[in-house]
Amino acid sequence: MNDMTQSPLDRDARAIMQANDRGRYSIPTSGLYPYQWNWDSAVAAAGYAEFDLDRAWLELETLFSGQWANGMVPHILFHKVDPGYFPGPDVWGCEGGPIASSGISQPPIAPTFARMVWEKDRAAGDAPMRRLFPKMLAWHQWFMDWRLDRGAVCVTHPWEAGRDNAPDWDGAMAAIDPTGVGDYQRRDTSHVDSDARPTKYDYDRYIWLVQLGRRLKWDEAALLKENPFRVADPTMTFALLRSARDLLAIGQALDLDTGALQDDIKTLEAGADTLWNPELEAYDARDVRSGLWAGSLSNASFMCWYAGIDNPAMQAPLEKMMRDSAYPVPSYPVDGEKFDSKRYWRGPSWAVMNMLIGVGLEDCGKPEGTLLRQKTGDLIRNFGFAEYYNPLDGTPAGGESFTWPAAVWLSWAGRA
Ligand code: SER
Repeated sequence: MNDMTQSPLDRDARAIMQANDRGRYSIPTSGLYPYQWNWDSAVAAAGYAEFDLDRAWLELETLFSGQWANGMVPHILFHKVDPGYFPGPDVWGCEGGPIASSGISQPPIAPTFARMVWEKDRAAGDAPMRRLFPKMLAWHQWFMDWRLDRGAVCVTHPWEAGRDNAPDWDGAMAAIDPTGVGDYQRRDTSHVDSDARPTKYDYDRYIWLVQLGRRLKWDEAALLKENPFRVADPTMTFALLRSARDLLAIGQALDLDTGALQDDIKTLEAGADTLWNPELEAYDARDVRSGLWAGSLSNASFMCWYAGIDNPAMQAPLEKMMRDSAYPVPSYPVDGEKFDSKRYWRGPSWAVMNMLIGVGLEDCGKPEGTLLRQKTGDLIRNFGFAEYYNPLDGTPAGGESFTWPAAVWLSWAGRA
């Protein structure tokens, strides 16, 4: 995009990305999230790719510079300590990687976004892609080794799914007794209204789970045995399946060793089937410890197309979700019993999730993808670059001047 073709919104989006640029990585927004977040960075790379390809690759390379020896890529890299965020590196107590980090991962969308960056300019992208490929494959392998339940990918902390307080985790969270978690001081509610954030009930359990991981030295085998929170998650499962397909395509194009990706794709496809809740008639989260369904339709349920699964049974829920809200797909149905229009992942619409859903629909040749792209574009046009939006009236909420919607605008929604 050259300066002649930039719209005022393109300029605003670029300005936000530049303001959140910390040189080798970007932060989601200053104050609330002052570090490098894993899946935020993946999308940021696609945004940078619209005006600075080298910077796009640098974002991804910095993310993978925090990869642990076991292949895990952390959900937060604490490059430079900032007391405005809790919990910081002192609480996580991680020693598994080269950079101070959290001890959990996040949905592996980075390989898919790396492919998007690469496809913008193959000649320039082949070298960084060759460097990143084995690292991305090692991350894939870490999920396959440690996180599968009947082929579906499990999370060990709600933060790992990226959808912190989604109703998906209510059952598994209720099974945690956070006695002994001790006193701690949240910082998020000093940046953002507390009614737009998770509750104290949630935070007690989030921190309890961090303390458990720390006690177990973030050892996956020990966590597999002892962590009461283990939920097979549509976000992770669909993201890993899509990532595996993209890695296979990249590896074949560059004549690289693609390991067991072909078989893994079959395993993950079978895993996705195990997330089909016949009662809900949709993809759902499955609590591995209790064996119970969450019974919760979420925006992650609609990531099936992103994973290349064009399941006709998801058509009716998609049409209903899009009919019930004038704004793009909310994180939870607006007529659901747990719906909360403001509270983070219990109702609000997120630009990034709509991009993942929309890209999937477009890739499957479905017209709803175009509609979602337009609706997401309208949301940003009318209400700005917010962390999330009230799905009933579009009111922006959470962090402002956010990298995600800026990158979504530049790479997808602003190009309707
Ligand atoms: N989203 C979490 C937070 O709000 C961490 O990933 O801090």
